[in-house]
Amino acid sequence: MKIFLDTADVDEISFAVSAGVIDGVTTNPSLIKQAVEKRGGSINMEEYIEKILELTPGPVSLEVISVSSEKMVEEARLLYSRFRKHGQVVIKIPVCSSLDGVNNLYDGLRAIRILASEGIPVNATLVMSPEQAILAAKAGATYVSPFAGRIDDYIRDRIGMKRGRDYQKSDYYDFNLMKKVESTAIDRVLSSKNTNSPKDVYLDMEVRDAVSRLNDNGIHSGVDLVRSIVTIFRNYHFKSQVIASSIRNTRQVREMAEIGVDIVTIPFYVLKDMLIHHKTIEGINDFIKDVVEPYRKIFAR
Ligand code: E4P
Repeated sequence: MKIFLDTADVDEISFAVSAGVIDGVTTNPSLIKQAVEKRGGSINMEEYIEKILELTPGPVSLEVISVSSEKMVEEARLLYSRFRKHGQVVIKIPVCSSLDGVNNLYDGLRAIRILASEGIPVNATLVMSPEQAILAAKAGATYVSPFAGRIDDYIRDRIGMKRGRDYQKSDYYDFNLMKKVESTAIDRVLSSKNTNSPKDVYLDMEVRDAVSRLNDNGIHSGVDLVRSIVTIFRNYHFKSQVIASSIRNTRQVREMAEIGVDIVTIPFYVLKDMLIHHKTIEGINDFIKDVVEPYRKIFAR
């Protein structure tokens, strides 16, 4: 599994690269905004991007900023030709760039197809369902980025949990616990129905609500979303690589690795959390304390 850093902060990139564990970087306009704000708003963006590319030992995703296929293709060509001499540029295109669910519906896919035919590598972003992932792969995306954390947020929102009050952004979303909660809720609703007619039970609104509330169209979590996409891509030998994105904690990284995802892109704080373990810190303290003089002398020469 490759690890990308999900950031536009050169300090974080250079730190992570020095540890030798980073294979690429993904940025988006929000991450670029954070990096610019951290630097007081004044930044030479072109030089800054060059630096990101020069530091990173692998692909760096840069996102377009329009929603029509014509504009996105124009921006992608510009980014690719302007920065490719500084590193491996990949262009992020939203799988669907519609702002209202009506207009520009197919523009993302069209842009992916055109860029792929020109040999420009595309990372299809904002993928929230296996269905979108299939379309992105068919259109020719080199990478497909399902947003695991945002799906976890969405399912928690659907059952009335509020971020900041009921859970924090980096909290692990317990998919297995939620599946048990779901089946218990369904059993309770089913047992309250006074009918033996499968049709009546199947069509009952309360039953339907219990079945659909704790998942997103059959997807039970962000990890479940990525598992589904990886399975489908393997079934059909799709060439697109899956980047598990919108990662919020280390347990998600582990579960993505168990699934066998190609790449996971993680924020800097998750990279740090992956390394820290209380027992490791306790252990190193003990080892340092226990060094005896004859052993220390070996190193004193
Ligand atoms: C990466 O490609 C995505 O842009 C990023 O992982 C989104 O993460 P977020 O949902 O934490 O903003």
